[in-house]
Amino acid sequence: MRIVLLGAPGSGKGTQAQRLVQRFGLPQVSTGDLLRSAVARGTAYGLQAKAAMDAGQLVADDIVLGIIRERLAEPDAARGYVLDGFPRNQAQARALAAMLKAIDRPLDAVLLFNVPYGEIVKRIAGRRTCSKCGAVYNIHDVPPGAPLRCTQGADHPAPVQRPDDNEATVSRRLEVYEKQTRPLIDHYARQGLLRAIDANAPPDVVTSRLIGALLQPVKPKRATKKKAARKPVAKRKTPKRKPAAKRKVTAKRKTVAKRKVVKRVKRAKATPRRVTAKRRAAGKRRARR
Ligand code: AP5
Ligand code: MG
Repeated sequence: MRIVLLGAPGSGKGTQAQRLVQRFGLPQVSTGDLLRSAVARGTAYGLQAKAAMDAGQLVADDIVLGIIRERLAEPDAARGYVLDGFPRNQAQARALAAMLKAIDRPLDAVLLFNVPYGEIVKRIAGRRTCSKCGAVYNIHDVPPGAPLRCTQGADHPAPVQRPDDNEATVSRRLEVYEKQTRPLIDHYARQGLLRAIDANAPPDVVTSRLIGALLQPVKPKRATKKKAARKPVAKRKTPKRKPAAKRKVTAKRKTVAKRKVVKRVKRAKATPRRVTAKRRAAGKRRARR
């Protein structure tokens, strides 16, 4: 299964990706996590990516595509994966489609997380992440005054706020989402891959909605060739021609008829008019007037 999780920052993609990983045994491929790891290791990619991430901008496509190519070529991705935060613009979507076409393994579904912006801002402000294992928490989920701990191991440090989760960067990330990522909704809807989820609900409810959506049969709207509209038959401007044989007969008949008329006219001219009693009376009447 090859799935894309699409949604605004803080809509819950990372949280749900980890749950889908457990449910389906597929790896989570998060470009955000891969980039953060590159930054932490100080790799060449990481150094280039850091400035864009701190500013809430998208990291350059060639860096992201390089990272994703390497990751999808790893053996655990052969059975499928959950793509979290990738693709994020049209160029990345096209590159992913080309990559998958080359290995004849198309996407199965794109799950869209719908969450109102007010809720998103609250979630991001309260998010805390374990720097050791990447587990995601929220301060709103623990009782007031209680310490927030990573539940993945007693030796894990207290979860911390992500450096890009400050107010200025969050509003820039939301702008970038609107401008560059939102158009992918239509892009995948046209391909019949999009499954929109109301993700403004407790995490367990969202998980069951996602699984329900994934189990729906996916019917990609294949681009069907439109049948060429039949051209309306143009009305003949000239009357249909008769077959040659018929035309010959008609012409002959016309000639004969014409000859008869000519003969009749000649005969009439040659024969002096007979003066009938009726005509004689009419002549007398004219003479009297
Ligand atoms: P990335 O790490 O991908 O960040 P993001 O997309 O901004 O999304 P988030 O990780 O902030 O949110 P999320 O949807 O995963 O929500 P989460 O589950 O954590 O990217 C970071 C940066 O890297 C980008 O800004 C960019 O610079 C760069 N980058 C990454 N990918 C890129 C790409 N493809 N191209 C170019 N640049 C790229 O949840 C948020 C909080 O809400 C948590 O505290 C969680 O506990 C809580 N929560 C989750 N679900 C619920 C729920 N149902 N109810 C209540 N609370 C919930
Ligand atoms: Mg995330």
